[in-house]
Amino acid sequence: MTTFAPLQNDTFLRALRREPTEYTPVWLMRQAGRYLPEYRATRAQAGSFMQLAQNPELATEVTIQPIDRYNLDAAILFSDILTVPDAMGLGLRFVENEGPKFDRPLRDEVDVQRLEVPDMAKLEYVFDAVTKIRKTLNGRVPLIGFAGSPYTIACYMVEGGSSSDFRTIKSMMYSRPDLLHHILSVNAHATALYLNAQIAAGAQAVMLFDTWGGSLSHQCYQEFSLSYMRQVVAQLNREVNGEKIPVIVFTKGGGQWLEAMSEIGADALGLDWTTNLTQAKARVGERVALQGNIDPSVLFGSEAVIRQTVRQVLDEYGTDVGHVFNLGHGISQFATPESVGFLVDEVHRYSRSMRESKSA
Ligand code: CP3
Repeated sequence: MTTFAPLQNDTFLRALRREPTEYTPVWLMRQAGRYLPEYRATRAQAGSFMQLAQNPELATEVTIQPIDRYNLDAAILFSDILTVPDAMGLGLRFVENEGPKFDRPLRDEVDVQRLEVPDMAKLEYVFDAVTKIRKTLNGRVPLIGFAGSPYTIACYMVEGGSSSDFRTIKSMMYSRPDLLHHILSVNAHATALYLNAQIAAGAQAVMLFDTWGGSLSHQCYQEFSLSYMRQVVAQLNREVNGEKIPVIVFTKGGGQWLEAMSEIGADALGLDWTTNLTQAKARVGERVALQGNIDPSVLFGSEAVIRQTVRQVLDEYGTDVGHVFNLGHGISQFATPESVGFLVDEVHRYSRSMRESKSA
């Protein structure tokens, strides 16, 4: 087991554990990405997105780029949720301006019955990147590992890529639910192994991205997404060398299910920008911390508008324990690096002043 440098800034982990912090910690989904010129340069050097993700040295470089530029309170592994189905043999490619594509999507019963939990050795490049990032961070901020939810990765595995209506997977859901349950159960096992390997390699918190759970009906969300996330969470190693490993679950569009989500064993829930934080906090009580939830499009506004909207989100949560500031979804590639700087600065400045005026 590798030993790592002691953590200098544990604000993010403390907020997830619902302990007091001097200010509200902040990190941003997709903080390493195309809005940064230094990312575009490293990606060009790598050749493609997958070559970048599969090269631990370059993956480390792009993970740390936003940490060097901004005062962020956590780093997130640079990788993708689709590495797991790629290791299952589905053949992942990223097509310029079209997003991810699978050469061998799951279309019939034979494809589905053949699906197996992959050998984690195929994902060694991810675990190597985790360890290398953790070493290079040298204790500056904690490192977040992540995976897609079983349902969200199934969307790509069955559709073969991005979809606007999820016609293929929903046809399977309503005509052969047994096949979809089989896929989800394989995905849940694979995801638990994958996250535990990231934790063993040095991830200090992990997050499940359920980007498409919010496209499901109330009934189907429980049955096809939430219950499999519960299975994943139940299998995770939650402590390493006496340090707790917090788990964050984020269903985009899941604001109406917060009570149910808060009971699957996660430490925190991610919220998109459609949910009011005051109300969300009242609904989940002390069961979980909350992460979010400014509208990512605010980054297209002026500096004054960005700062004012940050203050609104911080005021909604107030000074209670248990808030991690984030966007409600990933940063757009069209956001400017300056706008992100205004946001991070205002989170720290205003959240400190809220606590000072409260104790004065
Ligand atoms: O947040 C971070 O900085 C960590 C890295 C990260 C990426 N993808 C890098 C990436 C994370 C956490 C993800 C998760 C991911 N990947 C999700 C869930 C979160 C979400 O955004 O809803 C999903 C659905 C995917 C699948 C995926 N990967 C899509 C649909 C695309 C294409 C869309 C796009 O923005 O081009 C990707 C590619 C991808 N993953 C990029 C990055 C930085 C852009 C690729 C590039 O450089 O060309």
